[in-house]
Amino acid sequence: MLPRHVAFIMDGNGRWATARNMPRSYGHVKGSEVLEGLCNYAFDKGLKCLSFYAFSTENWSRPGSEVKSLMALLKRMLKKFLPVFIKRNIRLVVSGDLMSDKISDNGRKMIFSAMEKTKNLTGGIVNICFNYGSKNEIVHAVNAALEKGEKITEESISENLWCGELPDVDLVIRTSGEQRLSNFLLWQSAYAEIYFTDCLWPDYNEQEFDKALSWFESRQRRFGGV
Ligand code: FPP
Repeated sequence: MLPRHVAFIMDGNGRWATARNMPRSYGHVKGSEVLEGLCNYAFDKGLKCLSFYAFSTENWSRPGSEVKSLMALLKRMLKKFLPVFIKRNIRLVVSGDLMSDKISDNGRKMIFSAMEKTKNLTGGIVNICFNYGSKNEIVHAVNAALEKGEKITEESISENLWCGELPDVDLVIRTSGEQRLSNFLLWQSAYAEIYFTDCLWPDYNEQEFDKALSWFESRQRRFGGV
């Protein structure tokens, strides 16, 4: 069976670029091309929901030039993706602390405009996690529920998450050999299968993705039962 929601931790861009004597931002550019190709491949295969960890709340501590290049890349991708996604009936969601003053007004405008233009599209969802941290998301969700006078329950927290309307994650894929979740979709991944590969993200391709999907199919998911 295909996973309903696959979440990618796209790791290894910096190492990939450094190994080629190139600036780390070159790795991110290559990584964004992989993201684009993979979306097309996954939706062709019938997948419905993909999340990508593009920029964490911890990534602000990176050198200014790298942060700037990731911001620029997000804007470039939104511009490029929008017509393609609209044609493919794909909804674009950006999840994270988007009201932070660290994000420029222009960047925020582009993000909200892209989400608005695709909000009624039903063929699939691409969720770009940007200025995202899972603990921050959960705290935000609890406060949002309290402000609305809602009782704190699993349902009310789920509904108030930035990624609230998305199904729970079935499969997390992390590239580059690191084996941790790094504050990514912790609530949504409570019962996710987690797949690690040594492949660096800029080298990630359709064959690698197929391997992860076959592995997922072989897993016996018990959700706490027997
Ligand atoms: C982790 O690799 C990757 C990131 C922090 C950024 C991921 C971004 C993309 C793949 C491009 C898409 C971008 C946007 C903005 C949509 P790393 O830099 O930590 O690599 P390293 O572990 O080898 O240093």
